[in-house]
Amino acid sequence: MTLRGALIGCGFFARNHMQAWADIGEARIVAVCDTDAAKAHAFAAEFGAVAFGDAAEMLAAVRPDFTDIATAVASHRALVTLAARHSRAVICQKPFAETLADAGAMVAVCEAAGVPLLVHENFRWQRPFRALGAALTSGVIGPPSFLRLSFRHAFDIYANQPYLAKIEDLALTDVGLHLFDMARFLMGDVASVYCQTQRLNPRVAGQDAFLATLRHASGAVTSVECSFFSHYTPDPFVQTLAIAEGPLGSIELLEGYRMRLHKAGRVEETDVEPEVPDWGGKPWHLVQESVVAFQRHAIAVMQGRAVGQPSGADNLRTLAVTLAAIRSARTGQVVDGLSADP
Ligand SMILES: NC(=O)c1ccc[n+]([C@@H]2O[C@H](COP(=O)([O-])OP(=O)(O)OC[C@H]3O[C@@H](n4cnc5c(N)ncnc54)[C@H](O)[C@@H]3O)[C@@H](O)[C@H]2O)c1
Repeated sequence: MTLRGALIGCGFFARNHMQAWADIGEARIVAVCDTDAAKAHAFAAEFGAVAFGDAAEMLAAVRPDFTDIATAVASHRALVTLAARHSRAVICQKPFAETLADAGAMVAVCEAAGVPLLVHENFRWQRPFRALGAALTSGVIGPPSFLRLSFRHAFDIYANQPYLAKIEDLALTDVGLHLFDMARFLMGDVASVYCQTQRLNPRVAGQDAFLATLRHASGAVTSVECSFFSHYTPDPFVQTLAIAEGPLGSIELLEGYRMRLHKAGRVEETDVEPEVPDWGGKPWHLVQESVVAFQRHAIAVMQGRAVGQPSGADNLRTLAVTLAAIRSARTGQVVDGLSADP
């Protein structure tokens, strides 16, 4: 049976959600809403849905199987609370929340309503990271002791998302939390973090680069390197590059979607480039295909076939790492004790 969905927020990234839902077929967005009526009407006309200007009105009228929230973070708590009352599943874009109190409240309200809550964390669903995760799980390099994640580029992200230029902890809250989620996905829970931030691009108000060191509960360490003002040709944007090392070998994710396994004195290369969706194009196909993969997973969760990756409760821990990294950058101190319940 096709699941009936309602989308809140018809902005820049929501276009990927709408295209991907249309692609998947097992779910259909029947209603869309935006406080900017023109945006809601444009999406409704393009994707064959009914337009609303108010989320409460839409959800009460439509009572969808699921609500897909694609608005910015400040609106999430109110919208998730509303969606938990009117639908049977809730998906919320990242950043999930600005505070642990807001994140905890959203998790609690969905738990009380018996409604699964997923955070749209699509980076861990990117094809190269699905491949790296599967390789680590297979044990081919043994239990990993070191991971490096590197997301460094100079692509003009401010053209499509002008609000980014004003965010104080920009790199940590926009992409850092994606990278911390991937570090947790690949290496397990984080116990402590040390972080240093930099402001590199003079056009940008906030800190647009950071270097964070994570110690995982397992004893493994991760170096997370992120900059929105690093110049390369070709520019690797939107790729995250990676190295994972274990006692039996190492795996690299290199620019150009090449995954290299170093083991027993040999190196083996695999192509991990995602497909380009019919509605997509390069270099965005990495993101576009990850949205399709995440949304397919969301359907499996709604059908009771999978557990949310990540659920709201899981993503609360990623938020705790992100907030700890911000604190570490401000104080110059290591923040530990992160393995405990936030
Ligand atoms: N997962 C990713 O890779 C990725 C990439 C880009 C953006 N995002 C996230 O997506 C979210 C949206 O970003 P964007 O760039 O699309 O922003 P945007 O400003 O283009 O779109 C947000 C839309 O939500 C609408 N809106 C706000 N409050 C609303 C409410 N209460 N009811 C209905 N509509 C409301 C706004 O009018 C706007 O049209 C952000 O949290 C951002 O971090 C995620």
